[in-house]
Amino acid sequence: MYIDTHAHLNDPRYEGERDAIVSSFKENGLKFVINVGYDAKSSLKGVELASKWEDVYATVAVHPHDAKDFTDEDLKRFEEYSKNPKVVAIGETGLDYHYDFSPRETQKKVFIHHLELAHSLGLPIIIHLREAFDDMLKILKEHRALLEYGAVLHCYSGSAEMAKVYLDMGLYISFAGPVTFRNARGLLDAVRAVPLGRILTETDCPYLAPEPHRGQLNYPHYVRYVADKIAELKGITPGELNAQVLKNARALFKRIRHE
Ligand code: NI
Repeated sequence: MYIDTHAHLNDPRYEGERDAIVSSFKENGLKFVINVGYDAKSSLKGVELASKWEDVYATVAVHPHDAKDFTDEDLKRFEEYSKNPKVVAIGETGLDYHYDFSPRETQKKVFIHHLELAHSLGLPIIIHLREAFDDMLKILKEHRALLEYGAVLHCYSGSAEMAKVYLDMGLYISFAGPVTFRNARGLLDAVRAVPLGRILTETDCPYLAPEPHRGQLNYPHYVRYVADKIAELKGITPGELNAQVLKNARALFKRIRHE
């Protein structure tokens, strides 16, 4: 069974379709999905979904794109939402210097607020990182104690060398649809460089649909294309990869139920 550790079923694009998508997880070979929040509203929506469906978990945060709109109220809300045992992490939070939708200094400040929140709640962190590798590394080194409950770099887009730096800091690395793209050579080196014990699989849906659905709306069950590609690169079967990803997901997201 496949695992999607980063989906945005809270996205308005799934309106009217959500229940059908989640109720067909099992027949589509999905074990569970972690629905990731990107602002207060989407975080609440994720918690509601997780409360309704057994095989959906939630995370709460403000995305770096929206860091400029972040308020102390958001922190209080997220603390409240996290009382729900199906909230398994704080995220996604981080730095995005590709779009720069929020000023970089604001992104950094808001990211550190999220690190502090995750630590105070004993939860791991889901990190969004795009074109800000050096600043991210600097913040994580300065705030290393706040990573006590673990972290994952989601939708990894960097080099094998950079992956090693973050692996040395104890982070997990999660791969999404781009590993299936034709121009993914550098990224494939990164997949080869990350040990099996630190790999997670995700879709980041509705974005980044893997081949053969590239350019279309993405769905959690398309994670099979991502996982199958990683298994191929690692020279193991998809079943073996999924068993390892399940182990990794449970080690990082400790609130995920064992059955
Ligand atoms: Ni995302």
